[in-house]
Amino acid sequence: DLMYEIKGLTELEKKVSKILNINKVIIVPGNSDENDMFKKDIGKAAARLLLSMIRPGNTIAITGGSTVNQMVKAIQPLGSTYDDVFVLPARGSVGHRVEYQSNTLASELAQKLGAKYKLLNIPDHLSKKSLESIIKEPEIQDTLEKVSKADILIFGIGNALKMAEKRGLSETILDFLRRKEAVAEAFGYYFDPSGNIVYTSRSVGIKLDDIKKIPYMIAVAGGTSKAQAIKAAGHLLKHGCVVMDEGAANEIIRCA
Ligand code: G3H
Repeated sequence: DLMYEIKGLTELEKKVSKILNINKVIIVPGNSDENDMFKKDIGKAAARLLLSMIRPGNTIAITGGSTVNQMVKAIQPLGSTYDDVFVLPARGSVGHRVEYQSNTLASELAQKLGAKYKLLNIPDHLSKKSLESIIKEPEIQDTLEKVSKADILIFGIGNALKMAEKRGLSETILDFLRRKEAVAEAFGYYFDPSGNIVYTSRSVGIKLDDIKKIPYMIAVAGGTSKAQAIKAAGHLLKHGCVVMDEGAANEIIRCA
């Protein structure tokens, strides 16, 4: 019955937060690997959490991804409730599916909240030189400065190799990632199972040093296949919260 289910999940949450050494873990029923529908529940839980966190004048940085997308979708339009809040993409454009980019999700979240927003419209595969000169633009500088001081960071956790392939990284880099045993990806950083960064994608946005200073973080990831990635990226979340599904949670416990 429902009470039993909720109690069971609370136990599971305690277990998983202990294993991951994370302050707060929220687990929703189901396994996103089996049915994409469960991502919606992760999104709903993350949306509820976000709305309980936002304070006047906050800056929110958000990444892309299909799970973060579900969080944005779960929020009902709130009029101008948060008109002194700023929403920013945590990274410049990444990947090809425009609807899941952090820029798109930042503007959608801002619209839902009635908040202000700024975008980082930077093409994905710029040469180092072009990227360096774009970064110097005052407009971009201003946005990056704001991103670095975000109060709340919302991000998806991906599988390193899947994300690298999606982003069209070269075979040389894919090989490198395999050799380094990269398992997780978040905001353009690739992590090995111990949480060390083994590769950084060439894009602009939030830096690891900034992340350490952000007081509130919400990570979202679901499915058995994300367990290893969640574990590897977990150290970023000591003071944060990860919202996952039972599929991911049970696998994290199985491998502990
Ligand atoms: O960086 C990680 C990805 O944003 C995760 O994307 O939620 O679509 O699996 P996903």
